[in-house]
Amino acid sequence: MIFLQLLTVFLVLNISLANDCVKRTYTADSFVCVCDADKCDTLDIQKTVQPGYIAIYDSDQKSDRLEKTIVPVGQLKNRIDRMMHNKFTLNINVKHLNQKILGFGGCFTDGAVLNIASLSNGLVKSLMYDYFGENGLEYNIGRVPVGASDSSTHAYSLDDTPFDFTLSHFALAEEDTKYRIPFLRIAKMLNPEFRAFASAWSAPAWMKTTLSFKNGELIGKPGDVYYKLWAQYYVKYLNTYLDHGVKFWGLTTLNNPPAGLRGAPWGTLGMTPEQLRDFVKLDLGPALKAAGWGRDNLTLMIHDAGASSMDEYLPVILNDPEAAKYVKGIAYHWYDRKYPWTYGTISRFIGYGAFLFSSEAGNEGVASEHLGGWGRAEAYALDIIAGLQHWSTGWTDWALAVDTAGGPSWAESWIDATIVVNATAQEYYKNPMYYALAHFTKFLPIGSTHVETSVENARRGVYRVAFITPDNTLVLILLNMDEYEIDLTINGFANVPFTTTLKPRSIRNMLIALN
Ligand SMILES: *[C@@H]1O[C@H](CO)[C@@H](O)[C@H](O)[C@H]1NC(C)=O
Ligand SMILES: *[C@@H]1O[C@H](CO)[C@@H](O)[C@H](O)[C@H]1NC(C)=O
Repeated sequence: MIFLQLLTVFLVLNISLANDCVKRTYTADSFVCVCDADKCDTLDIQKTVQPGYIAIYDSDQKSDRLEKTIVPVGQLKNRIDRMMHNKFTLNINVKHLNQKILGFGGCFTDGAVLNIASLSNGLVKSLMYDYFGENGLEYNIGRVPVGASDSSTHAYSLDDTPFDFTLSHFALAEEDTKYRIPFLRIAKMLNPEFRAFASAWSAPAWMKTTLSFKNGELIGKPGDVYYKLWAQYYVKYLNTYLDHGVKFWGLTTLNNPPAGLRGAPWGTLGMTPEQLRDFVKLDLGPALKAAGWGRDNLTLMIHDAGASSMDEYLPVILNDPEAAKYVKGIAYHWYDRKYPWTYGTISRFIGYGAFLFSSEAGNEGVASEHLGGWGRAEAYALDIIAGLQHWSTGWTDWALAVDTAGGPSWAESWIDATIVVNATAQEYYKNPMYYALAHFTKFLPIGSTHVETSVENARRGVYRVAFITPDNTLVLILLNMDEYEIDLTINGFANVPFTTTLKPRSIRNMLIALN
């Protein structure tokens, strides 16, 4: 039993001193940090700042990964009068508060847990600390595919016995019992605030019009036998995981319902907006409630698809009070995003009272061809910032780990990841995305509140977001995608306006204690 084996490894006292990145450059424009049995870098972040000081953390394309600088407020250069040519100003309004953070994390795909398990116990431990530990990203969110996703070695459901109308052959896969559940329990051990949500890619083939894991709809219509059975399948799943010591915090209604209607080369189940509404209203909502997984015990999120289909789906579901009463959140993916229009779309739905949450994001392609790419880190940072500026409450990465090909994937849907595992060499690589994520995950704990900011004479390529943490630290996160240094004047951060210089292609966090 891998969990018991690992438990002994994890219980050994963990003395984590801050270690530096072991840099390696491949063909991309920046570098990865290599972790092997002997060495792995850790993140040394001081999240509270002494009064009178500002803490600055910088990462950039060229050399830095969360480099710390502490500056006394009195030494901030007030260069406003000398900067007449530069009128780029950022104003922070700590009195204007918006949404609170729910969390950040990644997905425990089959591929991810198999890749992690292909490492030695020592490296498994180091990787799990890198994601969930105090000196890692401190992820507090995990997404869990119900059965296979595209990041699996094969397509399967948890009940592939045809016409099993009592679900008596329902059983977790080896991927669940041997790998995923132990890793979920370890994540919870490393971070007590960790919570997981589940998403299904497809129903069993025998419940579907295509009789395949790919595409198609459930046979019949909502309220009928197959829809009821599909709802019972979810209940059975939640209860079985609970029996194995994992209590789910949340559930999405279905991964990517429009994809199954369009046709996709991976596992999907199509539902129209009306079908999804009626499934929630007639089948899923009542079944969850009857089984003790009602609103108070499980966070149900709808959509779980790209922003471009939100206009089509959300009003249909949320304008129906009998469906909407089961819904707590709206989950969205990044795939068809266009800055800034997409984000304007997502925030239009906030009036319905459901929170917004990013449930999936990932860069496509063969992972080894992108090792060390800074542009992918920028894409993550921009998506997170833009989402947070538009009422999003958190963000979920796709597979926690891929192999060097970007797999496994039965659907040949190769993808990049924050951590890439090389089992042959018994090492793994932390991409620039890992450090971009750290600028958010480590600084914005659950309950941090979004603070409004505005800019004057903004430079293209510079993005920002500000939060106040539960312990009253003001955190400003700045992304510079420009190839040049950029000066900007900041008002409302310290007691005096001051000017700061952002490095080219960089991410900077600035922290100050509010009294
Ligand atoms: C939540 O769970 C508790 C006990 O497990 C149960 O008594 C309660 O009815 C559940 N609430 C809902 C809304 O399902
Ligand atoms: C993975 O390890 C093998 C064996 O050491 C090596 O040949 C290969 O180049 C490594 N792959 C990458 C992407 O570093």
